Amino acid sequence: MQIWLGMTITVILIATHSLFAADSLYADVQALVNLGARVAGSPTAERASEYLSNQYRKAGYEVEIQTFTYPKFADAGSSLRLDGKTIETWAMVRSIAGSPSGKLVTVPNFGKPEDFRTVDVRNQIAIVKRGGVQFAQKIENAAAAGAIGILIVNNQPGNIRGMLMKPASIPAASLSEQVGTPLLEQAQKTDLRVTLTVKAQPDALGRNVIAHLPNVKQPKLIIGGHYDSVENSPGANDNASGTAVVLGLARSLSKSPQASQIWFIAFDGEEDGLKGSDAFVKRATPQFLSGLKAMLNFDMVGINDRLLLDGSGTMSAIANSINGDISASQFGGSDHASFKSKDVPTLFFFRGKDPNYHSPGDQLVEPRLLRETEETALKIIPKVLNEAPLG
Ligand code: BES
Ligand code: ZN
Repeated sequence: MQIWLGMTITVILIATHSLFAADSLYADVQALVNLGARVAGSPTAERASEYLSNQYRKAGYEVEIQTFTYPKFADAGSSLRLDGKTIETWAMVRSIAGSPSGKLVTVPNFGKPEDFRTVDVRNQIAIVKRGGVQFAQKIENAAAAGAIGILIVNNQPGNIRGMLMKPASIPAASLSEQVGTPLLEQAQKTDLRVTLTVKAQPDALGRNVIAHLPNVKQPKLIIGGHYDSVENSPGANDNASGTAVVLGLARSLSKSPQASQIWFIAFDGEEDGLKGSDAFVKRATPQFLSGLKAMLNFDMVGINDRLLLDGSGTMSAIANSINGDISASQFGGSDHASFKSKDVPTLFFFRGKDPNYHSPGDQLVEPRLLRETEETALKIIPKVLNEAPLG
């Protein structure tokens, strides 16, 4: 009787532990997804970094936010003022910032140099239709004719984020076809005084969230995953999934001796070209990097039943023992590459292709797969640290 009772209690404990673990991982994914797209340098990404910092602190860790900047244009809220009304405009990527006021001058056709010769745009704001000539060329033609700002009206429904290869010399923005077409016509008939405000940031500020127990200065292991996502995608699988598993590992290990050998990192700016992990390895000293036995990276681990591992250096054998020789490079690049480039052995956890990759549909992950990823990692971590497994 007593044995049975004991067994029942054990079974219940295991079941609740697993359920609890699954729920907390899934709750982390949901909390991150509910914030919206976590584009590096955006206020949403900053809120995500705050959420993660709070969670790590609750689990008993010290948190350091490692900031870094890199060139990345961001529209910080550009607009057009006309008759006391504000009209939505989209700054051209790489437009200079500024807030010129003047008369709106309609430029005929597509804004070739000869089109500008038929009107007087000097010290005024030119408005011209999209098409025929490249954005950059229209803008330079306008500047050469003396315009102090330019608006380009889309020639298809909706707005367009024009992309320039080098900085425009005058503030330049676009209007949707719906809003811009009537303005093109009205400006030919009447004097429209406008103020075009282009607010633009030339750099993004990224934030890596680094968590470790107090006084852990030289870890043997870094466990990480990126928390930023691409524009217009809530990034549930890419990569709230990996972010949640890294956080889950930190929670599960917080009372174990292993935790004093690990730094847990949520990287930012991955989607802009591994910027966060690159900044991290560039700032680390050679001694710090050579003191690492490995870096484990988790990216897209919430979809697809089969967990895949890709190892480099001393981690290859562990990866091979689990799934044979699989190269992640056929799927995609991620933060482990920054560590690999510094000769730190890496182990990449991922689950392959996702039909919702980098799309607004990336909203779902399977809680069971998050838990399975964490459980596999919990078996591998002691092997990496050459220590007996937990429990
Ligand atoms: N999570 C992806 C990479 C990925 C895709 C991993 C499929 C596993 C399976 C990552 O966020 C990404 O999109 N990487 C870019 C490259 C990066 C350097 C911007 C890619 O793969 O194109
Ligand atoms: Zn990713």
